[in-house]
Amino acid sequence: MQRRQLIQTAGLTALALSMSLASAQDSNKFKIGLILPMTGQQASTGRQIEAAARLYMAQNGDTVAGKKIELIVKDDVATPDVTKRLAQELIVNDKVNVIAGFGVTPAALAAAPLATQSKTPQVVMAAATSSITEASPYIVRSSFTLPQVSVAMGDWAPKNGVKSVVTLVADYGPGNDAEKFFTERFQLNGGKVVEKLRVPLRNPDFAPFLQKVRDLKPDALFVFVPSGAGAAVMKQFLERGMDKAGIRMIATGDVTDDDQLNDMGDGALGVVTSHHYSAAHPSPTNKKFVEAFQKANPKMRPNFMAVGGYDGMRVIYEALKATKGQGGGDALLAAMKGQIFESPRGPVYIDAQTRDIVQDVYLRKVEKKDGQLYNVEFDVIKGVKDPGKAK
Ligand code: PHB
Repeated sequence: MQRRQLIQTAGLTALALSMSLASAQDSNKFKIGLILPMTGQQASTGRQIEAAARLYMAQNGDTVAGKKIELIVKDDVATPDVTKRLAQELIVNDKVNVIAGFGVTPAALAAAPLATQSKTPQVVMAAATSSITEASPYIVRSSFTLPQVSVAMGDWAPKNGVKSVVTLVADYGPGNDAEKFFTERFQLNGGKVVEKLRVPLRNPDFAPFLQKVRDLKPDALFVFVPSGAGAAVMKQFLERGMDKAGIRMIATGDVTDDDQLNDMGDGALGVVTSHHYSAAHPSPTNKKFVEAFQKANPKMRPNFMAVGGYDGMRVIYEALKATKGQGGGDALLAAMKGQIFESPRGPVYIDAQTRDIVQDVYLRKVEKKDGQLYNVEFDVIKGVKDPGKAK
């Protein structure tokens, strides 16, 4: 009897010990729940961001302030219901310290209430509608906003022979932002917007819209479609001979996406876009980044999504360091605000008031270098804050 009790007690003690060891081990971990579209129409965004996040960890180690970093990648197929369920599971079951990723605006918005309720920092690495950062005080953004890059094109185009424009945007948050902020600035500069066209986000057929543009004969077509859809627009634009009909394409850099640009063919040569990142950005920091990225992922060229992921990891790592591994959600968030650093895209900082990224915006032209197509920067607007926030 005594012996049995002894064994039982010993067993219980061992169990208790292993449980407390497990929780001690857990408290020595720092978990990042990375929610991305790994399959479906937006899969290139997931692929780019995961590769960049893993590169950042390989370069900077997986132990920070005494904590072992664990990256948990989940595929939300860019579907907000799925994003929400995954965010909930990551926060409640896996007890992640940070949620990150978010390939499209509806996904970022779906997770925002959970970040607020659980006081979990949410690092938005891709989605780019201006209003996202207002959906939760726990959101910090490392990507960009459509107003930030569209205004630059509204200034450039009228000074460069473009007097009339038709706009063509994907019909959801970032497209509406691009349309509004490009149009307002272009008109302020004396340009004429002949027509505003919106295409559905899912499986868009650009043909009827492009036919309409041909009939309207503007000087240029201004385009925004999300990363991954650019090649299809470019192909149909060229197939319909729009360029030969004297209609130029101007766009945000989402269209001449580095992930796809090389496959678009010489028809893309000369297309001018405005954006915050080009793989051809001529800084030593970027050269090192592109080289390391391509060494680790031989078939890929990093695009602006990769940079959003890489810098987002940097923001998380530095917040963990600053809080000496002891911080909860509020302390981490505070340490994310105001970070200032040299990104592969150029100098950036996280605005402490808006929690949005402030960065240089470039005008770029598609050119051939060493037999490959690149967005070559030819002008820069320094330190651009999101113009959407003033509204
Ligand atoms: C978005 O859904 O916010 C989004 C996605 C892809 C982009 C830009 C914005 O290239």
